[in-house]
Amino acid sequence: MTRVFSGVKPTGHLTLGNYLGAIQRWVDVDQHQADALFCVVDLHALTVDHDPARVRRLSRQAATLLLAAGLDPERCTLFVQSHVDEHARLSYLLECVATDGEMRRMIQYKEKAARERARGGSVRLSLLTYPVLMAADILAYATDEVPVGDDQTQHVELARDLAVRFNQRYGHTFVVPRATPPKIATRVMNLQDPTSKMGKSDDSGPGIVYLLDEPDVVRKKVMRAVTDSGAEVVYDREARPGVANLLEILAACSGGDPEELSGAYTSYGALKKDTAEAVVELLRPVQERHRELCADPAHVEDVLRDGAERARAVARPTVDAAYRAIGLLPAASGVREPVVNAAR
Ligand code: TYM
Repeated sequence: MTRVFSGVKPTGHLTLGNYLGAIQRWVDVDQHQADALFCVVDLHALTVDHDPARVRRLSRQAATLLLAAGLDPERCTLFVQSHVDEHARLSYLLECVATDGEMRRMIQYKEKAARERARGGSVRLSLLTYPVLMAADILAYATDEVPVGDDQTQHVELARDLAVRFNQRYGHTFVVPRATPPKIATRVMNLQDPTSKMGKSDDSGPGIVYLLDEPDVVRKKVMRAVTDSGAEVVYDREARPGVANLLEILAACSGGDPEELSGAYTSYGALKKDTAEAVVELLRPVQERHRELCADPAHVEDVLRDGAERARAVARPTVDAAYRAIGLLPAASGVREPVVNAAR
């Protein structure tokens, strides 16, 4: 059975981009067709300036929202990254396989480090090594497929490269994973700036639809979306990024095709109205279920405890094998192995 692994980082409230680019498929497809693990990757939230209480709150909220969106603990494993030591254990070994140059070429590192420096802040070393930890997340589970949005494909490529390099140097240990981005809504754009991604850690609230936004807030944000100067509704990501973004959101919410949908509209106003309603209807059941789950935090905790146990059992054999393959002496188990009198 195909093994699927993916994660979400608790650095902000989850957005429509997270939902359409990743979570929707985890719920509708992956948990039914694959042996799937999904993770709130809290260690990754420490790579930028953070408030400990906020990270804790957002981690709980992300897990609750993933359940509210429809992840079923009977069908998949949901857990928090820091509850499973194997991620950090493997990350160090992969740092011994990755190169400094490789890390500095990562687009997200370059962008985030530049932003941080422009603000006069310092760049945490973990921001540079972040993609190695992400590779460890993926490789520890012998993952075949990584359902992610377009912004994460370079990181998954790195995980592939590290798996291949490790296997060549130290013997076959890791499955080589591949990214599986969605066909549409692979990069949902900011409604106020359709040339940049709708990102949860960004500050510009009006261009970002959060999964917990009230219906009227969603309507207002979508109706005020920046469109283009033309008047016709055409699907052209390059020339008409604002309209293309709305068509993709509408298509991803309603299961249609953006190109075909464009033919059904003669005005931006009507497109915005239908898109807003489609998003409101998409989020309605998620928000209802989220309210119910918030009233039962013990249930969420039970799911995460159980998930971490299952995840640990999957990851440990692979990570142990990597420790042996790379040349580390296994800890004494009480079973004596014969001492080989060789000069190696
Ligand atoms: P994160 O938390 O930024 O995003 C979680 C998932 O949502 C997708 N996504 C989007 N898709 C389309 N349009 C958008 N505007 C948009 N914004 C976010 C992301 O592509 C992602 O699939 N580094 C990862 C987390 C991570 C991970 C992993 C993912 C850590 N370890 C191992 C997969 C496997 C991240 O920051 O995702």
